[in-house]
Amino acid sequence: MKKNLSILLGAFCCTLAPFVFAEKYQTIDLPKENAKTLKRYGAELYIASKANAYPIPHVLNRLDGNGKIETAQEWNNIARNKILKFYQTQVYGAIPPRPKSLKFELVESSDNALDGKAIRRQYKIISTDKFGTFEFLVLLYIPKNIDGKAPAFVYPNFWGNYSLTDEKEIPLPDFRYSGGKKVKIKEKERGSRDRLPVRDIIARGFATATFAYCDVYPDLVKEDGAKQSIYKIFHKDPKYPECMPFPAWAWGNMRVMDLLQTQPEIDCDKVAVVGHSRLGKTAIITGAYDTRFAYVIANNSGCMGDALSKRKYGENIHAIANVTFLYWLLPQMKKYANNEGELPLDQHHLLATIAPRMLYCASATEDVWADPEGELLGLMHACPAFALFGAKNFPTLDVLEIEKPFHGDVAYHIRKGKHNITPYDWKNFMDYAQKHGWNPKKK
Ligand code: GCU
Repeated sequence: MKKNLSILLGAFCCTLAPFVFAEKYQTIDLPKENAKTLKRYGAELYIASKANAYPIPHVLNRLDGNGKIETAQEWNNIARNKILKFYQTQVYGAIPPRPKSLKFELVESSDNALDGKAIRRQYKIISTDKFGTFEFLVLLYIPKNIDGKAPAFVYPNFWGNYSLTDEKEIPLPDFRYSGGKKVKIKEKERGSRDRLPVRDIIARGFATATFAYCDVYPDLVKEDGAKQSIYKIFHKDPKYPECMPFPAWAWGNMRVMDLLQTQPEIDCDKVAVVGHSRLGKTAIITGAYDTRFAYVIANNSGCMGDALSKRKYGENIHAIANVTFLYWLLPQMKKYANNEGELPLDQHHLLATIAPRMLYCASATEDVWADPEGELLGLMHACPAFALFGAKNFPTLDVLEIEKPFHGDVAYHIRKGKHNITPYDWKNFMDYAQKHGWNPKKK
């Protein structure tokens, strides 16, 4: 009844907004529109009254059931390691090691990129280990308008580096993957995506490095991407489930960090990892395991990203593990499909391993599949771990107000629109960084 009342009230507010009240995102029933989805996933995905199905374990509860973690030291020495071990052995798999030999070959550069505002460097990262050599390309832009070193954003991309900038010097690969199939790349796709607004980033005095995630592990729905992935230098015969994709993509981010550490213009104490959607999940995993990243940004990362599985609204473990992306999670995770009450921990635990570093979670109003409220709740439930380190300024459910970003000790916003990463999102990621002292000095 209370919920129905609030939905009615919400509809009333939305009609009058922006004249009377600020507009707020609300989790609502979406039955009809999703009849097909419901059939496919065999579950009631969007029933608001059934959301928050299971209690969320307090993030500071000790995983052995013996009381609570009380100090930052106990958190770092005990809880954090147990959480990381759980995710590595039960959920995503283990991140491959740093290869025995790692080389950075400069393949192209310009001191006059992006209308003279940036330095451009394209590197081949060459990794060699027991079973051979593996290469992938990274595009790096460094601002010229600052005094001193530049903070940087590492952003793995979906289509390829050529899709994010119109500069002709970025090579056009023969194909990219789309839904598990090879698609021929056309010249007109160059710079056609605005998911990494390089000019805005450079103008604010930040650097950025990007690479195509499928170059590290092809995200193949029907084939086995493992065989064409980074794992082939570590294993004679890479296969599921020993060689998992999320850890491989996180490994890619980490090797880009290794590259940045060789660049004299980069401030390596201020490097963020940013990811959208499945790469938002990857950003969280990267930051959880690699503390060199001072800032983690999970954009629309949804189920198995920042959204709580125990909430049960939108995409769920069953959808990933049994229907769509069977190779994304370890087979052990299947036992929690439609059985989330049995999960010993949830995504807020993983987010909490990022404490006390900077963390930004972002949602979009039409991205119900990712469950915006569940994403915010994931962040909120992680906050007690940040409080152990002295942080205090945390979000509440009030920050579901649309396009009223919350930039406290952790950050959140919900943007109007679809599942995507946009210049609006980037503006806010940079604003929060600046608020936390990432202030490159302009020349
Ligand atoms: C699918 C998948 C999501 C994922 C998204 C993406 O929708 O179900 O879990 O986040 O793809 O990566 O775009």
